[in-house]
Amino acid sequence: MAVDNNMLQDYYSDDKLEKYAAACVDLKSPSISTRYYTLYSSLPSLKDKTVLDLPCGLGFKARKFILEYKASKVVGVDIVQKQLDVSRQLDVKAGVQDGQIEYVCHDAKIAKEICQADICVAVHLFCFAKNFDELVSMASCLIMNLKQGGQCYSLSCSLSKEDKQTIIQLFQTFDYFASRVDPLPDEILVPRRLIYSNEGFNYDMYAWDAEAIKKAFIMAGFSRVELVPYKADPEYSGPYNLEEYMKTVDGQVVIAVK
Ligand SMILES: C[S@@+](CC[C@H](N)C(=O)[O-])C[C@H]1O[C@@H](n2cnc3c(N)ncnc32)[C@H](O)[C@@H]1O
Repeated sequence: MAVDNNMLQDYYSDDKLEKYAAACVDLKSPSISTRYYTLYSSLPSLKDKTVLDLPCGLGFKARKFILEYKASKVVGVDIVQKQLDVSRQLDVKAGVQDGQIEYVCHDAKIAKEICQADICVAVHLFCFAKNFDELVSMASCLIMNLKQGGQCYSLSCSLSKEDKQTIIQLFQTFDYFASRVDPLPDEILVPRRLIYSNEGFNYDMYAWDAEAIKKAFIMAGFSRVELVPYKADPEYSGPYNLEEYMKTVDGQVVIAVK
């Protein structure tokens, strides 16, 4: 699969993948205790459901859906084959049975039918869409893999509308180091690009306004889209100010119904 983004290069490095794996389960992480917390609290029961996890990364959510939420099957899709290989090894260690999680290497910018899921979870996918056409293509790929009436849960990370220097300072509060923050675009259908790093991992991404994501879902054929503001895990005991974090990323869980 062609790699067209600096950030994706990082997913081929063993060292960086190890750090990324640790970050995925770091309960001190402000991201896990706000964005992921809101996502998990918004999901319906997954018991006996088929779930599409796109992008699945190292499969942490896929395993959770099988082992804790009792989904009957998870289809994990990611553009980086290496992550799928590592995920399979982690599945075996975690006790996932053969066939419970199926992995497919695919670029979500290309709409293709892979499965017919009841629920789809798309976390940190849209930040890889460089323009609105790519955003609509990703939404089209998601709807194509859902049953009629199926629901897609995704995250928007719009990013605070503050200027570059303020955002760089805000990021430092959370131990992120932003090397590039583009000016706020004049219109919502254009993303704001940023590059930042944390623990050696480089994030090269595009921040989309939630309204642009909503519009892309509707254009792809979803019938209804709802935005759920992030909330903080009341049991969080880490060092970061979660309210400040939520203001900085300024996002929401986006629920779209086919
Ligand atoms: C920050 S990770 C998030 C993974 C997972 N959703 C999670 O929450 O841990 C972003 C993932 O998106 C994948 N990705 C990026 N562009 C993609 C595309 N066009 N199609 C499929 N996967 C993509 C990357 O390989 C990476 O695994």
